[in-house]
Amino acid sequence: MKILVVGNGGREHTIAWKLGESPKVEKIYCAPGNGGTAMENKCENINASTNEELLDFALENAIDLTVVGPEVYLCEGIVDLFKKHNLKIFGPSKEASQLEGSKTYAKEFMKKHGVKTAGYEAFSCPKAALNYVKEVDYPIVIKADGLAAGKGVVIAGSVEEAEAAINDFMVNDTFKGAGKEIIVEEFLEGVEASILSITDGRVIIPFISSKDHKAIFEGNKGPNTGGMGTVAPNPYCTNEVLATFDQDILKPTLKGIQEDCLDYVGIIFFGLMINERGVYLLEYNVRMGDPETQVVLPLMDSSFVDLIEAAVEGRLEKEKVTFKNKTACCVIGASAGYPGKYETGEVIQGVKGNKEKVFYAGAALKNSKMVTSGGRVFGITALGDSLDEAREKAYSSLKNINFNGMYYRTDIGK
Ligand code: AMP
Ligand code: GLY
Repeated sequence: MKILVVGNGGREHTIAWKLGESPKVEKIYCAPGNGGTAMENKCENINASTNEELLDFALENAIDLTVVGPEVYLCEGIVDLFKKHNLKIFGPSKEASQLEGSKTYAKEFMKKHGVKTAGYEAFSCPKAALNYVKEVDYPIVIKADGLAAGKGVVIAGSVEEAEAAINDFMVNDTFKGAGKEIIVEEFLEGVEASILSITDGRVIIPFISSKDHKAIFEGNKGPNTGGMGTVAPNPYCTNEVLATFDQDILKPTLKGIQEDCLDYVGIIFFGLMINERGVYLLEYNVRMGDPETQVVLPLMDSSFVDLIEAAVEGRLEKEKVTFKNKTACCVIGASAGYPGKYETGEVIQGVKGNKEKVFYAGAALKNSKMVTSGGRVFGITALGDSLDEAREKAYSSLKNINFNGMYYRTDIGK
């Protein structure tokens, strides 16, 4: 089998690594890939970035299956385009991808189908939004409707902060159209969890739960990032929480997908908030999480490619997804300054010979040397019989790795 993996993050390195485990996979093309996929078994990086370029490559090279990492391609309709040309691709249609691409669409879907979520109001007029935030209790949450690279959510503690966010999003148009409409949402306290799952539109099978650490600094302080580390399973996802999630979120979501006739074959990522009132859905993502993937796939015993094929062929019901009875911890090594400005081109040393697996993200091979090329540079994933053991193994291996300005959080999973 020849597979095309679209994307260039740590998530895509992990996906390519996991797919490569299967003896039936001969070759994996990564578009555009990164320094990690350039060196991974069976993998080759290729230059293709637009949906049309990817389509041309898939047709010319008789690709058997395409797996899409980032949401942007999905929201731009790569699945519809590939299907029109009879190519096998794993991901939701453009219409279904709005569950991530538009917060208004997603919240309306949740409300219509009884998915438990925070109360909200949607606005397309800044004046109405500014009037509304004068009347509400604080804190509240303000969200840009469209994709904003993880920066479209502001937790406002006062009317002044809410007004500043509304002006930023709707009037100054910081997100170039993505903030022209907004959601103002009830603030929920609690602990967060990520549950990735796979669906063929007939069933949704949840994977092992995980926990992201979004803030840049220890103790969850400072601005949010794409994620500075993850653990799986999520210690807060007890059997009781998972049963509530199934009842209040997963089942109504599946019913909604079917009732709305959405063409949804792919990954659904449920971003959850757990508190004493139950389990709430904060958001849907229509793709795998990064760095959730770096802990979920290393724990997966099942063949990922078999699962994906079963989903694409609509026979997921007969599949069982199994995970190792272990805990995984992934710690991200980032460039100093991230999520703000940072340097690139720093040589990364000490990866070779490490016991634990390194998944590269913002890293590139230059003159046979691995150098930094992004904010989140790599993640190191270790498995253990307990969270403490996984943490200890990840951090002790991380100490061998170094580049100029390397930063990491010391409290992942603590
Ligand atoms: P989202 O993109 O909707 O997942 O929001 C990004 C982050 O903002 C989440 O991971 C939460 O940490 C926070 N957040 C979003 N919505 C809420 C909410 N209603 N209450 C509290 N925190 C929230
Ligand atoms: N780590 C969070 C995300 O992938 O959206």
